Amino acid sequence: MNSLPLFPTSRPRRLRSSENLRRLVHETAIIVDKMVMPFFVCEGKNRIEPINSMPGVSRFSLDRLIPEVEDAYKGGVRSVLLFGIPGVKDELASQAYDSRGIVQRAVRVLKKEFPDIIVVTDVCLCEYTDHGHCGFVKKAGKGRFFVDNDRSLELLKKTAVSHAEAGADIIAPSDMMDGRVKAIREALDNYGFSMTPIMSYAAKFASAFYGPFREAASSAPQFGDRRSYQMDPGNINEAIREVQLDIMEGADIIMVKPALAYLDVISRVKNKFNFPTAAYLVSGEYSMIKAAAMNGWLDEKRVFIEVHQAVFRAGADIIITYAAKELIKWLKDESNVRF
Ligand code: PBG
Repeated sequence: MNSLPLFPTSRPRRLRSSENLRRLVHETAIIVDKMVMPFFVCEGKNRIEPINSMPGVSRFSLDRLIPEVEDAYKGGVRSVLLFGIPGVKDELASQAYDSRGIVQRAVRVLKKEFPDIIVVTDVCLCEYTDHGHCGFVKKAGKGRFFVDNDRSLELLKKTAVSHAEAGADIIAPSDMMDGRVKAIREALDNYGFSMTPIMSYAAKFASAFYGPFREAASSAPQFGDRRSYQMDPGNINEAIREVQLDIMEGADIIMVKPALAYLDVISRVKNKFNFPTAAYLVSGEYSMIKAAAMNGWLDEKRVFIEVHQAVFRAGADIIITYAAKELIKWLKDESNVRF
């Protein structure tokens, strides 16, 4: 260890004695432009369906989504991530790649209304399959089944292209099938979307923190679980390999998910690859803070600021967070800059 000499005059508290001094030496600014806010869009008209397990988050029909996104934009949100809740689900997830599907329509309308907003689309089949798995499920007899990786790739490619055709700015595959980044990259290039970036959910863990999301997207698997395609929460070396593969396959931004329980993974990934790195502060991480705050057990604003700071401090360049709009408002309130 290379230890520094400690002088008797050393007084770290010198830089903590006033608000402006603390601000001067503050290391981790939460940058508003680096937040992405997820939205759930459902079929129908005039629908606002609050999600029980995610206080403050609702599913919106497209007509109701527009003012919501406008409000977020006015509040400082510059990027949104869309999840679709289709009217019908089937074995082949056909609504996932239908050019008139709910996400495709939402992208078209949002890009028309707010051309400056970055619209990211989640590419996965779990919201669209009747069984809730992220890929095409094949029966193997005796009540057994497996997720057919390569068959799933075909459906994911169609989904990605349909999102790009609708005008999505970034395609974000979250399915965790092997080889999907390469497959999607080739499909996008073949259809003339070589300039559409891919943000891959590269290190996505099989996490219990996704529970509330599955209520929101009604995508809980009807049988089995996702551990054959999502990662073991104990595996950091495997996370590095997953990220490396996605970079090699052509990802432009890689993601670690969840965020708070995986800060070490964010840090390792950022240090190792020095690549644009996103982290997803997922539904359960959001909801547990909300629940504690609603009980009066935590100071919601301070805790939200602290955990977002932690994710940026760990090395994330981008945070996907349901709290984006509130957080930006709180940060504005906190700022002591007056012009
Ligand atoms: C789709 C998907 C999930 C999330 C994002 N994309 C759910 C899952 O994998 O079960 C989770 C997001 C969250 O919990 O906020 N595969």
